[in-house]
Amino acid sequence: MTSDRSALFRPLRIRSLELPNRIVMSPMTRSHSPGGIPGADVAGYYARRAAGGTGLIVTEGVAIDHPSAVDNPRVPHMYGAAALAGWRAVVDAVHAAGGKIVPQLWHVGPLWGAMGSVDPAIRPMRPSGEWGPAGKTSYSDDYVRRSLQPTEPMTDDDIAEVIAAYARAAQAAADIGFDGIAIHGGHGYLLDSFLWQGTNTRDDAWGGDLLRRTRFPVEVVTAIRAAIGEDLPIFYRFSQHKQQDYTARIAETPDELQAVLGALVAAGVDVLDASIRRFDAPAFEGSDLSLAGWAKRLTGAVTMAVGSVGLGKSLQDSRIDGTAAPVVDNIADVQYRIGAAEFDLIAIGRLHLADPALATTLRTGAPLSTFDRTVHERNLV
Ligand SMILES: Cc1cc2nc3c(=O)[nH]c(=O)nc-3n(C[C@H](O)[C@H](O)[C@H](O)COP(=O)(O)O)c2cc1C
Repeated sequence: MTSDRSALFRPLRIRSLELPNRIVMSPMTRSHSPGGIPGADVAGYYARRAAGGTGLIVTEGVAIDHPSAVDNPRVPHMYGAAALAGWRAVVDAVHAAGGKIVPQLWHVGPLWGAMGSVDPAIRPMRPSGEWGPAGKTSYSDDYVRRSLQPTEPMTDDDIAEVIAAYARAAQAAADIGFDGIAIHGGHGYLLDSFLWQGTNTRDDAWGGDLLRRTRFPVEVVTAIRAAIGEDLPIFYRFSQHKQQDYTARIAETPDELQAVLGALVAAGVDVLDASIRRFDAPAFEGSDLSLAGWAKRLTGAVTMAVGSVGLGKSLQDSRIDGTAAPVVDNIADVQYRIGAAEFDLIAIGRLHLADPALATTLRTGAPLSTFDRTVHERNLV
């Protein structure tokens, strides 16, 4: 393994998006947009990372235009004149700082109510009315108990409305000047809840076997591609784990993973963002290949890895036991894997909070900053 960091700083073109390097700011919810409207502080927050040399910023999750998309009133919207004007200022500030930015479109689906108190008159969107079988989770017992109450499954009309809302949000983002679209398809939220057997027990066109469970995410991607045209890339975040159960899986075998990811790529996804707690964790027994590595091998698409870069403790572990993560310099391993074409991009979350100039730090080989959860995750500055 070499310590040459050049692989991290090789440019990459994806449709019209030209990235100067492989360093991506991973999406991180900040709850700093009162009324769903991102203000000047949000523009400053992202522009600082762009000025620090980060190749691409994926924004925090942004609500699509649907009543139960997001329960926290400080999470930004991708609809409404004021929110869209706020986002335009964010995009302009990031571009002025030399960066690129894509919004992460979000519908929480079964996890409605996890971030805030909710209006009981608003029905959560759950494929089969189930929150999911509770497993290893960092949610409170109280929230889990309440959520285990079944609700009405999504109707065909619900499904059509949500798909249309995704397309409208993508169109709005493209009109504002975002450089692509990212879709939150992981962590047990709406799209993932269709893929997961724990939350999708339907037996109709939207469930019953893996192919039919994949149909809803595929229709969302198809609608977004139709809305934004051919120029802009689509990023799709998927995960095995769910916040209802960190040990859950959507694919037990590489063949199953190929069935899901292949369908998404065929529908118009350009970049598969393999969300996992550690970028280097083997995805399937019998091989050392990471989840992003498998995604690339199985589909040939551009892939992005994420998880615990520069940190000795994964996000999930530290959320469950509440302790801090020591600094670990695993950058040489990241650059080795990109150089070996195991995956193409590396998303970095928490270290981007600790160090807005992270990409410059990595380029110069300066020591990594220490991530302090009580400071950086609370303020998200
Ligand atoms: C405060 C915080 C908020 C997050 N919010 C989101 C989010 O909105 N969407 C998402 O896909 N992932 C979210 N994540 C997960 C990160 O994008 C990333 O995958 C995870 O932190 C692992 O990367 P890291 O070890 O480099 O931090 C969040 C993580 C943190 C720490």
